[in-house]
Amino acid sequence: MSAESCPIDHSGPATAACPVSARAEAFDPFGEAYQSDPPASLRWSRDEEPVFYSPRLGYWVVTRYDDVKAVFRDNILFSPSIALEKITPVCPEATEMLARYDYGMDRTLVNEDEPAHMPRRRALLDPFTPAQLAHHEPMVRRLTREYVDAFIDAGKADLVDEMFWEVTLTVALHFLGVPEEDMATLRKYSIAHTVNTWGRPSREEQVEVAEAVGKFWQFAGTVVEKIRRDPSGPGWMPYSIRLQREMPDVITDSYLHSIMMAGIVAAHETTANAAANAMKVLLENRSVWEEICADPGLISNAVEECLRHNGSVAAWRRLVTADTEIGGVPIPKGAKLLIVNSSANHDERHFDQPDELDIRRENAGDHVTFGYGSHQCMGKNLARMELQIFLEELTKRLPHLELVADQKITYLPNTSFRGPEHLWVQWDPAANPERANPELLRTTRPVRIGEPSKRSITRTVVVESVTRAATGVVRVRLADPAGRPLPRWSPGAHIDLELGELSRQYSLCGDPAEKSVYEIAVLREPESRGGSRYVHEELAPGQVLTMRGPRNHFRLDSSAGKYLFVAGGIGITPIIAMADHVRAAGKDYEIHYCGRDRDSMALLDRLIRDHGDRLTVHAAGEGRRLDVDRLLAVPVDGTQIYACGPERLLSALDSAGQGWPEDSLRVEHFVTTGNGLDPAKEHAFEVELADSGLTLQVPADQTVLGVLRAAGIDISSDCEEGLCGSCEAPVLTGEIDHRDHVLTKSERAAQSRMMTCCSRALCGRLTLGL
Ligand code: HEM
Ligand code: FES
Repeated sequence: MSAESCPIDHSGPATAACPVSARAEAFDPFGEAYQSDPPASLRWSRDEEPVFYSPRLGYWVVTRYDDVKAVFRDNILFSPSIALEKITPVCPEATEMLARYDYGMDRTLVNEDEPAHMPRRRALLDPFTPAQLAHHEPMVRRLTREYVDAFIDAGKADLVDEMFWEVTLTVALHFLGVPEEDMATLRKYSIAHTVNTWGRPSREEQVEVAEAVGKFWQFAGTVVEKIRRDPSGPGWMPYSIRLQREMPDVITDSYLHSIMMAGIVAAHETTANAAANAMKVLLENRSVWEEICADPGLISNAVEECLRHNGSVAAWRRLVTADTEIGGVPIPKGAKLLIVNSSANHDERHFDQPDELDIRRENAGDHVTFGYGSHQCMGKNLARMELQIFLEELTKRLPHLELVADQKITYLPNTSFRGPEHLWVQWDPAANPERANPELLRTTRPVRIGEPSKRSITRTVVVESVTRAATGVVRVRLADPAGRPLPRWSPGAHIDLELGELSRQYSLCGDPAEKSVYEIAVLREPESRGGSRYVHEELAPGQVLTMRGPRNHFRLDSSAGKYLFVAGGIGITPIIAMADHVRAAGKDYEIHYCGRDRDSMALLDRLIRDHGDRLTVHAAGEGRRLDVDRLLAVPVDGTQIYACGPERLLSALDSAGQGWPEDSLRVEHFVTTGNGLDPAKEHAFEVELADSGLTLQVPADQTVLGVLRAAGIDISSDCEEGLCGSCEAPVLTGEIDHRDHVLTKSERAAQSRMMTCCSRALCGRLTLGL
């Protein structure tokens, strides 16, 4: 490499070795390898050199998840000002052409520094909140249907040209509030922009592109003036223009002109590319496509997984404003960073088996395709809505769709925006399901705005058998309909079953080594609202059920020296699985099983057979009630108590265990202790979000989780009852009123994290690391 291109000063002692390795030197973001698969082309970097200098590009390249997120998190040290800078310097002829059109693209949001950016972002955020976006759903649905109608009988289509490109552009124009009559012209001009910013055009192309960009710029100005004459209409631009009257210094004329043009690009190509990438990867993984055709409930998580696996923004840029370190590598002030979010999304340090497309992946939503922190994509929920509706309509109307074989997929060469230029698909129109069943067209599923909930990740299982386990208890065996292995589970895990209108949780109590079957035991509750009644009266072999999970809120700590298991009634189900595991591991344990009488105690035969030497049965009918105080009279270091059963038993254990070492007692609550908020007893408080730069009010009758969601902050959740730990957020300052069942006493005392679905503030303000 040439000495000029090396960012390290070699004039010092000879030990200052040149940091650019041969691989770093060879890295070419416009080359075949990066263009066809950016994360695969950078695997070597994630493994060996996660932050490196690329002399070809003149940028430092950042490829690991934690480093990429750390850069996004700090928009002062890592300024976004170069985000839209042309990656290939403009030739004088092109500059001249742009000047001829008074081209004056200024900073907007995505490349604006503080302190200008945040007040503008806060002021303009409202049209992007889930509540406001819901108004656009019918428009997106109508457009999607119209475009599918146009090709449904053709048997072959280029999904990019015939659907994604046009629908996403029209949605963007509607969202912005562009007058209908100007849409066609803006559509024509917007295309030149990607090449202008992220590509490596030749000299001649640059002039051509500059002319189109110049025209786009001028027309965008005309449209802003038109909206200004009557800003009463719907859309983000009229909204911004109305707001300009109140805050002219924040929403300037130059900003409005620039965002009119940049907003279209931000909203359009990103989403069109994301849709094409998603369809490509889903059709390449046929069994996954078939699964979502069979169960559209999987679509919202599938969208997230496609954005992770094959996102449409492959890399983003930042400028380093002071000497610093990234991932331990010193980086000088003034360095330019290419932060490769697509590589971060395939980092196995954060995602298990990252190259696999797993539409049930629990942390798919952790991807950084939308960036992160105070500049995170404002339009992410509009994009998610579009992608969900595209997948819903295509899986419903064209489940027999397949990729045209042997087509050459090409990408417009550039560092950042990524999607196939064409995507040819084919099908047999005679087999279109709507021909046989026109009713199909009337069905729609509500879109899930925001990050998908784990509750939406489902699978189907078939009932293999229903047999008597004890008086009032049945044992149900469930299997995958195609005989495939079911997901692995650990002792203490449960599944959620949809039974008619209801969803109920049941602990798994079979053998985890039996890979294709789950076993549960269900007690007939005298006051059943339908769940257990349904299982006892209607469930039959062969029946197909929808299931969620398995999930584990009741994990066994394998480091304990001894285990004391206490079960009351049907609470034996998670306990038996734990006991099986502990026995197999050769650990010391005791089981105390309480019930009315032996006849009503499920799984007793198996317990006697497999755990007889460790089992004490406390059957009330035999006058052998468990004396909890006696059992826990002497605290034993290193012994863990695991209990599941009625609340009465659990609270007796809790009081009796007061003298035991902290966190010795772990319990499984099936019934929630209630998170219905009584505004008369609660107080309102503020949450400040350090990474996103927002301050939100949490009213007395709302949860922190609800308020975060309403503001468009992604935060995952599952139980929403303080049981599972998925809605956890880091707390930087403030005193927390913990109300969950997840954290231990010492974790609570540390005051450094909270479950946002139920916990609140004891003070007036909490600062969260979000
Ligand atoms: C910013 C990606 C769709 C509007 C961004 C950023 C990325 C991105 C990577 C920069 C984030 C950062 O610096 O942390 C995407 C992807 C999309 C998409 C992958 C589609 C799948 C949209 C849509 C809109 C939109 C539909 C508008 C309706 C914006 C805006 C910003 C932004 C206004 C600037 C936010 C700020 O700097 O405060 N987007 N975007 N995007 N996006 Fe998107
Ligand atoms: Fe389960 Fe909050 S969502 S603890």
